[in-house]
Amino acid sequence: MLYINGEWIEPHSKKYYEVTNPATGELLAKVPHASKEDVDLAVSSAREAFDKGPWPKMNPRERGAILHRIGSLIEKHAEELALLESRNNGKTLKEAKRGDLPPAAEIFHYMAGWADKYTGETLPVSGPYLNYTLREPVGVVGAIVPWNYPLLIACWKLAPALAMGNTVVLKPSEQTPLTALRLAELLQEEADLPRGVINIVTGFGDTGAAISSHRGVDKVAFTGSVETARAILHASAESNLKRISLELGGKSPNIIFPDADFERATRAALWGVFANKGEVCSAGSRLFLHSEIYDRFLSHLLDKTRTLVVGDPLDPETDIGSLVSGEQLSRVEQYVSTGLKEGAQLLCGGSRVTTGAASKGFFYQPTIFGQVTQKMTIAREEIFGPVLSVIRFKTEEDLIAMVNDTPYGLVSALWTKDIERAHRMARQIDAGSVWINDYNCFDSASPFGGVKESGWGREMSHDALNEYTRVKSVWIHLG
Ligand code: NAI
Ligand code: MG
Repeated sequence: MLYINGEWIEPHSKKYYEVTNPATGELLAKVPHASKEDVDLAVSSAREAFDKGPWPKMNPRERGAILHRIGSLIEKHAEELALLESRNNGKTLKEAKRGDLPPAAEIFHYMAGWADKYTGETLPVSGPYLNYTLREPVGVVGAIVPWNYPLLIACWKLAPALAMGNTVVLKPSEQTPLTALRLAELLQEEADLPRGVINIVTGFGDTGAAISSHRGVDKVAFTGSVETARAILHASAESNLKRISLELGGKSPNIIFPDADFERATRAALWGVFANKGEVCSAGSRLFLHSEIYDRFLSHLLDKTRTLVVGDPLDPETDIGSLVSGEQLSRVEQYVSTGLKEGAQLLCGGSRVTTGAASKGFFYQPTIFGQVTQKMTIAREEIFGPVLSVIRFKTEEDLIAMVNDTPYGLVSALWTKDIERAHRMARQIDAGSVWINDYNCFDSASPFGGVKESGWGREMSHDALNEYTRVKSVWIHLG
């Protein structure tokens, strides 16, 4: 069913599709494939809630209290939601419990605090005027999200949008709509959110396209592929020039200098690329090793990689679950065969796992390619699977040229004890984040997002609030 105007309704299209567990093939649910008419209804509901409902006009502290309530609701149901996420996405249950649910709850608590604190300014203009700015919500936000962190990425958009008084039409990925739908049930039962503030339409790319081309939508917040981002930009251009924010993944460098803390750096290189089966926009999929430590580091990393357990996502001993779909599996297989053809050295992995608990799903071995050059496809394109490309460097100058020789620029990491080098590099790397002596540093208070073709705009932090507000300048002649 679709969640529109606080109610569960049948799709106008009467079309449903099957959502399955990618690790087992088990049928999980039948979900509507929303049509243009369904999107129209969801947008009118959000429009009505914005134009006539209490939400944008509500005392912001009261709105903040509702956001805290949503955060607590997610905490209360975290176990259940983590299990659902694991079954729908194929990620391990322990990853869902640790990596998906706590930050999904926290972003609501964090943004709740901003509801009454993101203010305008009084500005020192010339002449006999008082000039001040108002921060206003943009209106109806279309949130189009992917399948790798389904609930978390939805919450990264919902929380700031709601905190600032917007209303939302959320479209989860066709593969992974179940946690968003469950969240809507919980909201309906326990959150006291006014009708129409959150609407959820499930469906495929055409459902997303109906949102991005809709004249009643004021902004689209998108996470996903560059290809779809281009389609959304066209749709905005051809409709009402709606605002867009984009988070589009990357080919992020993880750089190890000879003076790195070896043990921590190997662990980070390992989890930087193999966490969530490599289906992570911030994956450290290019590992740059200084030639002095290339062999030693790599052999240590290979030892660790060989201990990783691929299999049943619900088993606490498992490290790597199932890829999200057969389509994603063939994408990974194609990249691996391209890597081999272009002369990279396959050091471990390189094939799917089909034995035991893995026989029914889309499991792939953690894979490492050595002697990769920056010209190879596997160093240039986002694979979005458990595949690491290792590149050798000698000088800082060569390194920077290779690191920035990519259309992407999401995150980056570097490992060194030399403080001057660390800060020098932080300025030179083209990326939205630079992590020094760690990997995957995330916090609701810190902005996350890309440069270049990794996208525009930021998630989390007060920078995200800018994406969900517009500024109005008010002038008063003082006589
Ligand atoms: P996608 O970008 O096509 O899908 C993301 C969302 O956009 C889904 O909800 C989808 O239904 C929707 N969508 C698809 N076509 C649309 C359109 N024309 N207009 C509006 N919405 C549309 O991503 P896909 O095809 O699932 O994955 C392809 C590749 O994209 C992956 O292999 C990976 O490289 C990258 N990707 C990056 C993500 C990130 O976190 N930055 C997340 C997911 C995928
Ligand atoms: Mg696609």
